[in-house]
Amino acid sequence: MHTEPNAEVILETKDLFAGYIPGVNILNGCNMHVAKGELVGIIGPNGAGKSTLLKAVFGLVGIRSGTVTLGGEDITGLKADKLVTKGVGFVPQSNNVFPSLTIAENLQMGLYQKPKIYDERLQFVTGLFPELSKRLRARAGSLSGGERQMVAMSRALMMDPSVLLLDEPSAGLSPVRQDETFINVSEINRAGVSVLIVEQNARRCLQICDRGYVLDQGKDAYTGRGRELMNDPKVIELYLGTLAADQEKADRKSADPTAAVPPGAAGPAPQVAARAVPPSAPDQR
Ligand SMILES: Nc1ncnc2c1ncn2[C@@H]1O[C@H](COP(=O)(O)OP(=O)(O)OP(=O)(O)O)[C@@H](O)[C@H]1O
Ligand SMILES: [Mg+2]
Repeated sequence: MHTEPNAEVILETKDLFAGYIPGVNILNGCNMHVAKGELVGIIGPNGAGKSTLLKAVFGLVGIRSGTVTLGGEDITGLKADKLVTKGVGFVPQSNNVFPSLTIAENLQMGLYQKPKIYDERLQFVTGLFPELSKRLRARAGSLSGGERQMVAMSRALMMDPSVLLLDEPSAGLSPVRQDETFINVSEINRAGVSVLIVEQNARRCLQICDRGYVLDQGKDAYTGRGRELMNDPKVIELYLGTLAADQEKADRKSADPTAAVPPGAAGPAPQVAARAVPPSAPDQR
């Protein structure tokens, strides 16, 4: 644990088990936390359960055991609309804007539970993203991928969340737009919002994070400060090599959607030591 000893923990999962299909756990006892003001990254191979972790925290996947707390309050299993009012913001990886609505309407949608604070919050998000203020009447569907991410993050920020969950905000963007997106995420965090970000662009993510977790087979396999993880020979050997190959594959796909990726191009499967599921593992129903 690298959090400052007195840091207030905003979000925490303890021994989280969750999944979609009865009897199959995707999260296998995941422990992680975000302290106030922190930018925390979750990296890990495809299918490790990164998106599932965010969805479980946000009440979109059934939690089978374990707890999620927000500022010390148990929020395990609460539904998304309730979580939004309690201060959790979530930006899913895809379909995260309403394309037929304008930017302003998208931002209003983020605030449907508290419409009175629109002006104040609009000032906050346009302070972060001045480009948005000039284009409030543009339809979100007419925007570039990077601009859409900006709108999606702004929509989630309208409710003034104490923690913002971001699922792969750089996915599918060109390298330049990816860089802008990472800068935007850092700025959101510098503006005082605690952030939990899932990323496939592992190195870039760890560069901006205070701390990170490597999620493997639904469990937190490693944790440390962003740069420590990036330079940890074990993490490099087991994860970063493979993740870098995953990233190259994703970049090639976004550059040329018709390009075929040869089987095995993602490199060898990570040689992860088998981890025993604790005897108390729930939902082996
Ligand atoms: N709706 C669903 N129903 C059943 N299984 C699912 C569902 N969504 C995801 N899964 C399975 O859960 C596992 C973890 O998926 P998840 O999307 O959490 O991985 P991830 O780490 O986010 O991967 P990626 O890097 O590809 O985004 C995968 O085996 C996936 O097939
Ligand atoms: Mg995912």
